[in-house]
Amino acid sequence: RATDARIEVLIDEAIATINPDIYGHFTEHLGGVIYGGIWVGERSSVPNIDGIRAALVEALKRIKPPVIRYPGGCFADSYDWRDGVGARERRPRRTNFWVDDPDMRAPADAPQRFEPNQFGTNEFMRFCRLVGAEPYLAVNVRGLGAQAFYEWVEYCNAPAGTTTLAELRASGPVPSREPFRVRFWGIGNESWGCGGNLTPEEYAMEFRRFTAAVPSYGVDLKFIASGANSDDLNWTRGFFARTREKGEWMFDRIYGWGLHHYSWNVSGGRTTDWRAGKGDAIKFDEEQYYELLREADRIESLIDRHWAVMGEYDRRHRVKLVVDEWGTWYRSGTEIDPTHLLGQQSTMRDALVAALTLDTFNRHADKVVMANIAQLVNCLQSLFLTREDRFLLTPTYHVFEMFMPHMGAQAVRTVFAAPSLTYRRNGQPARFWGLSGSASLRDKLLTLTVVNPHLAESRATEIAVRGARIARAQARVLVADDVHAHNTFENPRAVEPRDEAVEVGANGVLVYDFRPASVTRLQLSLT
Ligand code: AHR
Repeated sequence: RATDARIEVLIDEAIATINPDIYGHFTEHLGGVIYGGIWVGERSSVPNIDGIRAALVEALKRIKPPVIRYPGGCFADSYDWRDGVGARERRPRRTNFWVDDPDMRAPADAPQRFEPNQFGTNEFMRFCRLVGAEPYLAVNVRGLGAQAFYEWVEYCNAPAGTTTLAELRASGPVPSREPFRVRFWGIGNESWGCGGNLTPEEYAMEFRRFTAAVPSYGVDLKFIASGANSDDLNWTRGFFARTREKGEWMFDRIYGWGLHHYSWNVSGGRTTDWRAGKGDAIKFDEEQYYELLREADRIESLIDRHWAVMGEYDRRHRVKLVVDEWGTWYRSGTEIDPTHLLGQQSTMRDALVAALTLDTFNRHADKVVMANIAQLVNCLQSLFLTREDRFLLTPTYHVFEMFMPHMGAQAVRTVFAAPSLTYRRNGQPARFWGLSGSASLRDKLLTLTVVNPHLAESRATEIAVRGARIARAQARVLVADDVHAHNTFENPRAVEPRDEAVEVGANGVLVYDFRPASVTRLQLSLT
């Protein structure tokens, strides 16, 4: 068969083991994420486990979530963890960070505006345990002092019977005598903005102060510093320069440097305005489709550029990248419940964004140790949408399911040679790559995930593995007749992956047709 593209997998060129935490999640007290999304309450008619939505637990377990970030986001820097522990009826009601957002359409007394604190640390830990994920807590740097942070660590990690806070953890509505043993702690969130409007130098000072002498209770604490927004290299440079002034040993104290990247300016490059620049989640034209993919694809250069700056100061690259917020961000209007601030539908286009982003993380497994898609449910590029007892999986969920074999496998270098595609951008021809993806190896099983972004053309591709033959192959494909396709409560399975048998040539080489606007996983048994 004639082919117009080639993929060559170089199994002898290992990149690094793919940290499963790259497939992490993010939950914030924002819109419909916690209340109505995760938490329905013990007395709800919605099936629940200790107040946590049972359908969510079951679906999330299937994709083995490694880590979940909580409680924000911007909310984290206004949150006092002490409000969310102990007897629920005595927990205070507070103003939520998001109360004044212009898109907020929750009733005046809704939990989206006024935080009832019915879901707090123990409820979150219960959720993590139910789904088998590790917690990653973001600490309030803007509003609380370092002492409150140490006490949160003590509350979570001190053995029962040792301190008053450990005893408080072991009592209350979801008691736990077992310490939570929280390893991951984010020191602030977006400290350049909602987290305090700090300069990088000021933030470096706060980071040192907060992490100087945290009691560990035998837990290997891993601190994640609040990193840059997209391409703000000055933030990275300023923090690393000031940190090194104190001594290079400081870098041993930092597990991860955060990076946030949202894909949102989808008006064909016509405006970069924060609100006007956002497009619609469902209604988009060809230009907006490719522009959004291009915006998402910037993650690769962001990783490379921040990594290079980090390396100027931390020459041994002890500090790795944690992309703790990423995903698509559209204007309001497609949320399935008006109280879901920043809620949006999710189409096949979002599936392609998820796949190309996860592929990028796999290819940079030597640099990225964790990533958290924003956000888990009812907010931005969610895996799940809910309304009352109704619940659905988005196309993005299916990408996470398809990519599971990459978790913990060995990323290997892969060369994609495919003609780039062209589209019209502001009336001028623009180019975008023709095929991209990533590969990983576990024993003799190679997982190759591939995105074909072309809206109309499939790509007949020859796939070869250098130094091995492909004995058997199996494909799983996520594709729809229309890239605008999405799942609804009426048609919840409009977009879902299908398995396909694949024939391998006698020469141990495979020719595969990647369908237009598709995500494909090939599993190749090698000899
Ligand atoms: O995910 C929504 C918000 O986006 C987060 O709270 C904040 O960190 C980011 O700006």
